[in-house]
Amino acid sequence: MSLTLKPRQSVRAKISSLGTYVPPRVLSNADLEKMVDTNDQWITERTGIRERHIVEKGVATSDIATEAAKICLAKRGIEASEVEAIIVGTVTPDMSFPSTACLVQNKIGATGAWGFDVSAACSAFPYSLQIGAKLVESGAHKKVLVIGADVMSAIIDYTDRSTCILFGDGAGAVLIEPCEEGEIGLVDFWHEIDGSGAASLYMPAGGSALPASHETVDKRQHYVHQDGQAVYKFAVRKMAEATEALLERNGIKGTDLDCFIPHQANKRIIMSTAERLKMPEDRVIINIDRYGNTTAGTIPLAMNTAVEDGRLKKGDLVLLASVGAGFTVGATLLRWEI
Ligand SMILES: CC(C)(COP(=O)(O)OP(=O)(O)OC[C@H]1O[C@@H](n2cnc3c(N)ncnc32)[C@H](O)[C@@H]1OP(=O)(O)O)[C@@H](O)C(=O)NCCC(=O)NCCS
Repeated sequence: MSLTLKPRQSVRAKISSLGTYVPPRVLSNADLEKMVDTNDQWITERTGIRERHIVEKGVATSDIATEAAKICLAKRGIEASEVEAIIVGTVTPDMSFPSTACLVQNKIGATGAWGFDVSAACSAFPYSLQIGAKLVESGAHKKVLVIGADVMSAIIDYTDRSTCILFGDGAGAVLIEPCEEGEIGLVDFWHEIDGSGAASLYMPAGGSALPASHETVDKRQHYVHQDGQAVYKFAVRKMAEATEALLERNGIKGTDLDCFIPHQANKRIIMSTAERLKMPEDRVIINIDRYGNTTAGTIPLAMNTAVEDGRLKKGDLVLLASVGAGFTVGATLLRWEI
């Protein structure tokens, strides 16, 4: 039987719209001082965080992802029914299954879409972005919605001062479409995983290894557990290595970049990478002071901050970087085309 093969496509993909959402309720360092033995000075000096946004009880990841998706589509001026695929990066899905992508699809009314979730913790947005871009670059789709969203407050132990100060809730959505004539869009990426670091940052129970039981609840195993120093050391080393490798492969120096948009886990991790890349400080986007670490939400939220501040404009050369649980490592080079 003879097959009629479609010609190989050579399409470039770009981010064509951005929408973000954080819940209105603010949890400040002063609020946390009343909950655990901590203080504003310690949190600010060690992490750069001053406040974070937290959902009201009953608000799930699909809810905040839906808000971000609606804003993203409205800004682009298209209907949800035009979206062909939805990818949600999250470590706090509404439930193990169905996927958060299915729930978002139904909530926004994306009647023609398929989709799935990506589990890559703090690297979930860059990883989802690449998958979405590949769906466009292959010629399979023209409109892919990529969302990074997490309700970290659902899995944070608010009696553990070493973790509860770090995280917040938030979501960001981007639309991926083919580039127009003369546009460059997504250029290249460098991703790595290293599962030897799994026990440094994880939620021990609730999966097949340790299903939920009275004992797991009593032992507070349904919360984030972290070896902060191990994560910190890995993040400082790998964020620099991955970004340097990506830039070198593309013949670019840190000083050639217009904008560095890193995952927001700790201001000190961000600044050590920026210094290694010799990036001028005004080109480094930091909003951790307002949102904390929203896991999959940080990079799109930081993109939004950069746009609002006038520090991210059409044609800018942008570097994204992330390190997260897994460990997962991501670096993305792109031209901003909005
Ligand atoms: C979590 C983190 C901020 C802790 O900072 P650190 O400088 O490593 O602090 P340590 O864990 O060594 O703790 C130092 C001291 O502060 C104390 N401490 C911890 N949390 C505290 C808090 N919220 N308030 C006050 N003191 C605190 C510790 O108990 C310790 O006290 P000790 O010296 O008496 O034992 C830091 O390790 C970090 O950012 N790690 C990476 C986290 C991350 O990026 N996670 C997400 C990855 S995507």
